[in-house]
Amino acid sequence: MALQNGSFELASLVAAHAWVKACAAELKRPSVVLLSGPLGAGKTQFVRWFLSEVGASEVASPTFAIHHEYGTAYGGVDHVDLYRVESDGDLEASGFWDLFAADQGLVFVEWADRLPEDVWPQSWQRLFLNLEKISEQGRRLTVTLKKPGTK
Ligand SMILES: Nc1ncnc2c1ncn2[C@@H]1O[C@H](COP(=O)(O)OP(=O)(O)OP(=O)(O)O)[C@@H](O)[C@H]1O
Ligand SMILES: [Mg+2]
Repeated sequence: MALQNGSFELASLVAAHAWVKACAAELKRPSVVLLSGPLGAGKTQFVRWFLSEVGASEVASPTFAIHHEYGTAYGGVDHVDLYRVESDGDLEASGFWDLFAADQGLVFVEWADRLPEDVWPQSWQRLFLNLEKISEQGRRLTVTLKKPGTK
């Protein structure tokens, strides 16, 4: 069971990759994966590994902020980076929230902590992943899973 709340150490790049593989196998749509952690913590690396696990290939170029859209055999996948976003209001007119209109969506958000924790749709599974660099390849990963229908 990769999808468990808690905080633990991933000692190497290989260990982190293995965790993402196990986690991706358990990820049910609709899910939003909310990544946080400082520059270089590994947020984009984690998303790349997830995308590869779900067999994603890019179908569209950026529309707002940094948004990449991918197709898979199981439906679309969106990847967004909120680094430059300062508040919820910045996103209102951008079409960002339309990503969550799909009822079987899968969305990855880097710098998710730019927004308050409670803005994400409660009808979706929300997987918060916080990454902290503890050595060149070592990472502390803190996982908070919120099931659909919970606050
Ligand atoms: N255990 C690990 N997990 C993830 N990435 C690792 C790990 N060990 C080393 N790395 C390397 O650390 C780098 C992390 O860069 P990445 O672009 O993923 O960071 P980021 O958190 O997305 O930063 P930014 O906020 O600038 O977008 C990558 O080159 C990755 O290969
Ligand atoms: Mg990044």
